[in-house]
This record gives sequence, C-alpha cells and structure tokens, in this order.
Amino acid sequence: MKIRVYDTYEQMSRAAADLITAQLLIKPNSRLGLTAGSTPIGMFAELVKLYREGSVSFNEAWLYNLEEKSGLPRMDEQTCRSYFHRHLLDHVDGRDDHLILPDSQAIDLKAESARYEEILTSLPDGRLDMQVLGIGSDAHIGMNRPNQTLEPRCHPESRESGMYIAMGVGTILQSERIVLLANGESKAQAVADMCGNKITTMVPASLLQLHADVTILLDKPAASKL
Ligand code: GLP
Repeated sequence: MKIRVYDTYEQMSRAAADLITAQLLIKPNSRLGLTAGSTPIGMFAELVKLYREGSVSFNEAWLYNLEEKSGLPRMDEQTCRSYFHRHLLDHVDGRDDHLILPDSQAIDLKAESARYEEILTSLPDGRLDMQVLGIGSDAHIGMNRPNQTLEPRCHPESRESGMYIAMGVGTILQSERIVLLANGESKAQAVADMCGNKITTMVPASLLQLHADVTILLDKPAASKL
C-alpha cells in the first residue's frame, strides 16, 4: 500500500482529484467506482475546479458506486444518484446515463444485487479501472462492516436508516487500482488497523493489503496512529 500524508483535508482532496484527473487523461472512458459520504466531498469540489479550468472532462467517463439506498425515487435526496448529481454531475460535463448504480426502486433486492454484480463483472476490462473508497471508524469499506465472514459480491444490506444494495469486498478488490481517502482523528485507529500486521475480516479495510495497487491518501490527524 502506498501511503501519502497531507497537512490538510484540502490538500488530500486535491491529491485525490489529481489522481482521478490523471486516470481520465490516460483513459477518458475509464470506469470509475466512487464513494458517497462526507470524506470525498472536498475531492468532488476539486474535480469541479479542475473541470472549470479545462483540466479534466467527464464526458466519456463511466461512474459507479459502492451502494445505493432502496425504496426511494431515483432522485430522492437520500439516494447516491442524487448525491453524485449534487457534488459532481450537475457541475461538470458528466452524463447521467453513464452513472450506473443499483436501482433504488427495485422491489426484489436480491435480484437487483445480482443484476448490479453482473454489470460490474461484465465490464469491458472485466473490472473497474479505479475504485475510490472512504473508511468507517470501525474500518468498514463500502457497507462491509467487521464480521466473521464478509460478502464477496453485491448483496442487500439492512441498516437503521433503511435497506441498501451494496458492493461486496470481492468486487471491490477486483478493481484495477484502489484509492482510499481518510481524514480526521476519528479515522486514525481504523487507518492504523488497516495498515497493521494482521489481515482479518474484523478489519475489512485490512483486506486491501492483498491488493497490488492501493494508494491511501490521509490528512495528518487520520495518520496520527500510524
Ligand atoms: C458509509 C459508506 C462508506 C463510507 C463511510 C464513511 O458507511 N457506505 O462508503 O466510506 O460511510 O463515511 P464518511 O466519509 O462520511 O466518514
């Protein structure tokens, strides 16, 4: 794992945006796996700036996500689809028909999970070109929380906030490159455990140690226990 530590959240966000920009320069029609949450908001803001400067285009890019919330209209403010519109698509030249998420209106969540898995495994190169991840303070990635066993493939997840369709760890690890962002002291222990000397499903992010191309971008507080 390559670990880079930045003085500020803004610098970390800029570095993440630069990696995505470089990916899109090399391969404009990249398949990018994204993550929602608060961590990548700065990265999306930097990408919007880079777009306005003419440094990046999303016109040919394909965007995917780690999960989608169920039981809601597609553009409900709680869906990941609406999140990606708010933070990125509404401000750049990306295309809604290239934003590929599980269907928030699907009734049969198992069938919808299988459909999304099929989409991800039948990509032109057989995998996402790049997956951006955040990390939970319990070291979960995507919606895969610490457990004796983890789901390898797309699956329904139940939370207090509702039902979701979520990518499994196997599919996440299949991505060609992985970029993980973490900021703030509340993530410091999870970051230390992720990079520690044990790989265990009780620390889902530690499975990233099995991947050949992982870049971890941290601000100073998130790196404070390394
Ligand atoms: C949720 C998401 C994860 C995200 C995590 C951290 O569980 N499913 O993909 O990494 O929260 O969120 P935040 O960036 O808001 O701290």
